[in-house]
Amino acid sequence: MSYNLLKGKKGIIFGALDENSIAWITALRCHEEGAEIVLTNAPVAMRMGEINKLAEKINAPVIPCDVSSDDDVTNLIDKTMEHFGGSFDFILHSIGMSVNMRKGKSYTEIDYGFNAKTLDISAISLHRILATCMKKDALKEWSSVVALTYIAAQRVFPDYNEMADAKALLESVARSFGYHYGLKKHVRINTISQSPTRTTAGSGVKGFDGFMNYAEFMSPLGNASAADCANYIVSLFSDLTKMVTMQNLFHDGGFSLTGVSHAVIEQMEK
Ligand SMILES: NC(=O)c1ccc[n+]([C@@H]2O[C@H](COP(=O)([O-])OP(=O)(O)OC[C@H]3O[C@@H](n4cnc5c(N)ncnc54)[C@H](O)[C@@H]3O)[C@@H](O)[C@H]2O)c1
Repeated sequence: MSYNLLKGKKGIIFGALDENSIAWITALRCHEEGAEIVLTNAPVAMRMGEINKLAEKINAPVIPCDVSSDDDVTNLIDKTMEHFGGSFDFILHSIGMSVNMRKGKSYTEIDYGFNAKTLDISAISLHRILATCMKKDALKEWSSVVALTYIAAQRVFPDYNEMADAKALLESVARSFGYHYGLKKHVRINTISQSPTRTTAGSGVKGFDGFMNYAEFMSPLGNASAADCANYIVSLFSDLTKMVTMQNLFHDGGFSLTGVSHAVIEQMEK
């Protein structure tokens, strides 16, 4: 069902890899709500070709961008402004990559070169995108920027590895830049801390199924799905949440404030 919440709004969605991606489902939902979208992903991810299917469905151009490259980000913002004929209204940062996890390195034995790459792609990229937008005055007054994060930024989830540090940094960038961009142009910047969700990035975490079941048992409402997340993102891109900025917003069915649940106690008593 559409409420036309994003009618007349334009924005960039990063990170739609395949139909399970949170970004993919969000792009469809934003389109349904009337938004015009530019899609982007790393050139290497595009070789899979999946993103073109989404682009066709929502009539969006696809502009490649490796978010760790200044040149790519500059090119993306320039081309997006050309496409929209000026500044735009929203950005979804839905990007995560742990090089150490990919290489099978545990948290206590990480390679610092890989770690720098992880932090650059997963967190500093938000700063790079925002700084480029600020320089080019690419975002309209009261624009909304959302980045996706996970509760491992606040609490220990041992196999989340270096991504916990990356998410803590991402949330800090959102807060700090939110201050500066808010003062300058009323641009609001928030992170959404999402429940575990079955996607390519999610399933890359060791023991993901156990992880997901545990969260389900610990959340009074159950885990939030990617579709639920897309709805929440639409609300944050809309004018209905105009005064929300610099927040880390838990979207997790109550997981973050539950100490223990009856379901988990029952399991422990077995
Ligand atoms: N799946 C979960 O359980 C979960 C939970 C909380 C938060 N998140 C976060 O949600 C976001 C989206 O992940 P997802 O679960 O939809 O998985 P996904 O694998 O579908 O998306 C991750 C995206 O990051 C992109 N990416 C990686 N390196 C890049 C680079 N150098 N330049 C540009 N893009 C790059 C990938 O191509 C991919 O599209 C991530 O930030 C993730 O950490 C996921």
